[in-house]
Amino acid sequence: MSENGHSHNSTNSHILVNEFDYYEPTTVEEAVGLLQQHGGNARLIAGGTHLLVLMKMEREVPGVLISVNKIPGLDAIAVREDGGLIIGSRVSIRNLGRHPLVRARYTGLAQACDSFGSTQIEVMGTVGGNVCNGSPAADLVPMLLVFNAEVLLKGAQGERAVPLDQFLVKPGVTAIRPDEVMVGVALPPAPENTVSAFHKMVRVVADLAKASLGLMLVRDGDRVADLHMAYGAVAPTVIRIPEAEAALLGRTFTPERAAEAARIASERITPIDDVRSNAWYRRRVVKVMTEDALNALWAEAGRDQPLPLAASPNGVKTSIPGDVIPQLRRGEQREIELTVNGVKRQVRIFSNDLLLNVLREKLHLTGTKYGCGVGECSVCTVQLDGKPVLSCLTLAVEAAGREVITVEGTAKPDGTLHPLQEAFIDQGAYQCGYCTPGMLMTLKALVEENPQPSEEEIREYLKGNRCRCTGYSSIVRAVLAATGQKVPEK
Ligand SMILES: Cc1cc2nc3c(=O)[nH]c(=O)nc-3n(C[C@H](O)[C@H](O)[C@H](O)COP(=O)(O)OP(=O)(O)OC[C@H]3O[C@@H](n4cnc5c(N)ncnc54)[C@H](O)[C@@H]3O)c2cc1C
Ligand code: FES
Ligand code: FES
Repeated sequence: MSENGHSHNSTNSHILVNEFDYYEPTTVEEAVGLLQQHGGNARLIAGGTHLLVLMKMEREVPGVLISVNKIPGLDAIAVREDGGLIIGSRVSIRNLGRHPLVRARYTGLAQACDSFGSTQIEVMGTVGGNVCNGSPAADLVPMLLVFNAEVLLKGAQGERAVPLDQFLVKPGVTAIRPDEVMVGVALPPAPENTVSAFHKMVRVVADLAKASLGLMLVRDGDRVADLHMAYGAVAPTVIRIPEAEAALLGRTFTPERAAEAARIASERITPIDDVRSNAWYRRRVVKVMTEDALNALWAEAGRDQPLPLAASPNGVKTSIPGDVIPQLRRGEQREIELTVNGVKRQVRIFSNDLLLNVLREKLHLTGTKYGCGVGECSVCTVQLDGKPVLSCLTLAVEAAGREVITVEGTAKPDGTLHPLQEAFIDQGAYQCGYCTPGMLMTLKALVEENPQPSEEEIREYLKGNRCRCTGYSSIVRAVLAATGQKVPEK
């Protein structure tokens, strides 16, 4: 038994040590009130992919968590009259990156979303969490900065819009006040002839950036009419370097001037040595990355590709179903109901119970595995309302009233295997027992979303599920076979 009387099972998947009071306000005003009431002891939580990792490492030990996930409207993307966008703070990385207007007009922002380490993190992580965690390596921030984004905040003193460059203070610190909630980001319209791109240097796809670069360029004939460049992971915050931009701004583009801009940028950054890279290498990367990126973007700006007309975006939501769940207090258990593999289940949970340990230890569904516990391996993937999520980073209370599918629910009740399971056996894709359940659950979500995925789409979707033993060829073949597509020769 732990100090708080909460029994720990030998399977050890309960690794969120501290308990907390958990609130689910249904308006921003309620959230602001709670922040006022609890002061520095409280943290807001959205996707939890950053905060829960810090809490597991006990680098954050809040006594109160305030979820923004039941506040309607924060997950919407709206088009302003002038063609700009208002992006709600709870819009997921995945929904942002797939939005047709974002892809067409703010292309680099969509590329930044695509660059995230795993599909599951894209599904769970939010715009608000990415901006408010204050990480110099946060991937959305360089692109939001080059598009002159403003952070929209609501607090006890009312509403304010803070230019993003003034919002970023130092690593892990932003200008948000203790009683403020970020409600969204405002993006001005992208001028005609705007091109943009995001570049990220990583060791492996799952890593945060060693260095990243967001660019926005407006071409007028041979002249650079406008240029914004923002760098991530090479200074205490994401930064723009006006001196580097000035090497090209208002001038005729030449490769020599692009090289000069790159040289200036590499001199002005203030990189550090850390676990991901060292300062010397980061300077080299910034120089090469800037020069290559400028030349490529200039070439793209010369192509005759008019931007599509502004249209009502697909998938804009203005509200979420209001399912008010009573708050949980630390030390107290509460019963929640969730549907697991088609069956309604009631479980008693503490505030710090994770979906993973509810599944494994309370419902004895041990098909879902516990690997890293911090979002990096994806062996714990289950479907939550059809979407692939990491059960090691999902609070159990977040699953209340929702539908969970685990690997045990993949076959039909009569035992007939799912076509993916059949194909895994036929193609020898059943590799190790640890990764296979997570891979199956991720791929099940993929084929439900995209019934005939290409090989590239399969590999991209599976990027966060890491195999260290064999590789992915048999798995790709199995998905192609299960979806009735041609399977390449071995
Ligand atoms: C395995 C792994 C891979 C990752 N890969 C990437 C990557 O490739 N690129 C990248 O940029 N990041 C990455 N991350 C970091 C993280 O997933 C993202 O930053 C994500 O966008 C955070 O969003 P969230 O909703 O999960 O944030 P949360 O964890 O919910 O919150 C993060 C912080 O923001 C605050 N916050 C959240 N919402 C609000 C709000 N509305 N108002 C005020 N404050 C708020 C919280 O209090 C907290 O301090 C990765 C994380 C993991 C674990
Ligand atoms: S155990 Fe959940 S991602 Fe590794
Ligand atoms: S399938 Fe588990 S390590 Fe390769």
